[in-house]
Amino acid sequence: MPIRQKLEHLEELRRQAEQGGGEHRVQTQHERGKLTARERLDVLLDEGSFVEMDRFVVHRATGFGLEEEHYLGDGVVTGYGSIAGRLVYVFSQDFTIFGGSLSEAHAEKIVKIMDLALKNGAPVVGLNDSGGARIQEGVVSLGGYADIFLRNTLASGVIPQISAILGPCAGGAVYSPAITDFIYMVAGTSYMFVTGPNVVKTVTHEEVTMEELGGAATHASKSGIAHFSCRTEVDCLQRIRGIFDYIPQNNREDPPQRPTDDPYDRADEELLDVVPDTANKPYDMHEVIRRVVDEGDFYEVHADFAANIICGFAHVGGHSVGIVANQPAVLAGVLDIDASVKGARFVRFCDAFNIPLLTFEDVPGFLPGVAQEHGGIIRHGAKLLYAFCEATVPKVTVITRKAYGGAYDVMSSKHIRGDINYAWPTAEIAVMGPKGAVEILYRREIAAAEDPEARAAELQADYAERFANPFAAAARGYIDDVIDPRETRRRLVSAFDMLRNKRDSNPPKKHGNIPL
Ligand code: HXC
Repeated sequence: MPIRQKLEHLEELRRQAEQGGGEHRVQTQHERGKLTARERLDVLLDEGSFVEMDRFVVHRATGFGLEEEHYLGDGVVTGYGSIAGRLVYVFSQDFTIFGGSLSEAHAEKIVKIMDLALKNGAPVVGLNDSGGARIQEGVVSLGGYADIFLRNTLASGVIPQISAILGPCAGGAVYSPAITDFIYMVAGTSYMFVTGPNVVKTVTHEEVTMEELGGAATHASKSGIAHFSCRTEVDCLQRIRGIFDYIPQNNREDPPQRPTDDPYDRADEELLDVVPDTANKPYDMHEVIRRVVDEGDFYEVHADFAANIICGFAHVGGHSVGIVANQPAVLAGVLDIDASVKGARFVRFCDAFNIPLLTFEDVPGFLPGVAQEHGGIIRHGAKLLYAFCEATVPKVTVITRKAYGGAYDVMSSKHIRGDINYAWPTAEIAVMGPKGAVEILYRREIAAAEDPEARAAELQADYAERFANPFAAAARGYIDDVIDPRETRRRLVSAFDMLRNKRDSNPPKKHGNIPL
């Protein structure tokens, strides 16, 4: 056959591969408000940058009539491309072909691009839309998943791994994303569960909808499995592009810089009035963050989960930082199980990928209560402590108000290798708040007083005068300086600049044993 004819044949095959599981199934996909695997890649990647691999791979299964049913690509589009000019490897599952389910060949395609990503030090973005292991292939597809899980694990902390859930994902299709760094879901069209509502009903007799069991809102606010709940698929894919402003290609690179016109020494008068005069009055720590970072841009992670702690990325003086901040506007910013787990995982991501940590602290302590104690607040709280202790990236902390009890230690204190620790004059650093302290220290004296309430108030005021300030900590050098809130941005830019070449390490070990 002459070359031109061969080329025509090749073109025909290419077109065939792009048709997915056929017009009817593509139409159903669109009717459900979902894009096809290739349309998603068009939104995710820089225009014209996608280079496809393994377009002609087909499954090798027999039985169940599969001999007659072959689709080029076998339900997943794989390859590489760029986001803002930076290399990324991608796979995009095609629900129109066997429900995006994972066969041996489908798994091999994903494994191939994961191996390339690891060798070449670039992130992997997985667009998941899959019914899990391909039932007709049995153990071979289970093996395929295990091959992917192994690579997810080996790549963890080496290259960023990002998962979008863009359809009903079950079984193995949720465990691979679960090992990756960030999970994005879409409201109304994406679901994650180990077993769906029907199986749940059979086993536990609970009646639950797909949305309640494993929808975006559920996982973004209740289970915490999803880091982002997006309005639409396009919103989701664009937000994935956005995270690339903050993260490096791999663990040996520094995160990208973003030049800024925001003056490094911009003072902010409003910061003087953010912290209320009354110690127990809430305020929104987002306000502090936005007033301090470049252009007020904050890329929040896990916004709907454990809102008593805020995690996210920003730039300070053109450099990427990971921000962990107590949120006095929610549960007074207390550390509970969910907040500890959320913070710990974020700190570990930043540390693994050389992203300096900026901590804003206003925390009354760990949350007391039977549910928290029985739920394992000791173990979970220890995760956040462990993560901050272990982190060797530059660490700068600003105490805006309360730093009470164990939470003072945990939130990147000087004692656990905080590099620069600042306090605003409004800081209160003590073992506990005035009310609790006075009740323990002066219970008998208060009970015997003529006017117990007045005596308690007097003692609390005296305690606050002595302990509710940053100077005892500053006198010992636990706080490097007490700063004017208006100058926070200038001080942070300077601190991170000073720490730019920081080198610190942990003792050689196979790995630590973080309390899981
Ligand atoms: C083969 C599958 C499939 C699968 C779906 N399909 N899941 N084919 N293996 N796992 C096919 C269907 O036969 C159908 O083919 C097409 O995909 C679309 O599926 P529908 O059921 O029509 O779609 P929908 O109603 O949207 O439901 C989607 C779904 C449901 C919720 C994902 O299909 C489902 O529950 N699938 C099975 C999920 C599951 O239990 N997977 C195994 C998990 S175990 P046609 O030809 O009609 O288009 C696992 C082990 C891994 O993954 C180990 C983890 C540790």
